[in-house]
Amino acid sequence: MKVCRRETFNSAHRLFNPDWSDEKNFEVFGKCSNPNFHGHNYVLETWVEGDIDSETGYVIDLKYLKDIIRNEICERFDHRNLNLDCVEFHSLKPSAENIALVIWNILRTHLDNRYKLSVRLWETENNSVEYSGH
Ligand code: NI
Repeated sequence: MKVCRRETFNSAHRLFNPDWSDEKNFEVFGKCSNPNFHGHNYVLETWVEGDIDSETGYVIDLKYLKDIIRNEICERFDHRNLNLDCVEFHSLKPSAENIALVIWNILRTHLDNRYKLSVRLWETENNSVEYSGH
């Protein structure tokens, strides 16, 4: 059985490779390489899979899950510039893929091992990535 909590956060980022020229960066990353950054309204779906607990009827208390996501993810990234403000991305490009990877690694440490964890991060209405630990 899988359950999901949805949360949102707004962050700025810039995708660029410092080893490349501005032209090559624009060629590969387009507007995402604009030097002055740009923002996204990220939508984070956190999926937890496990057995239904016979005492509660829950897989996991979604209030508990919500608190972890808000405290550990939203507090950390909301209204931040991911490139400049967040140590997690000082040497890691803040693409949706890498943001999902970082989020998964943080949440994993706060969840009991009996749960499987998967995160889906929507960067735009049409583009999303999913990470489940591999
Ligand atoms: Ni972008």
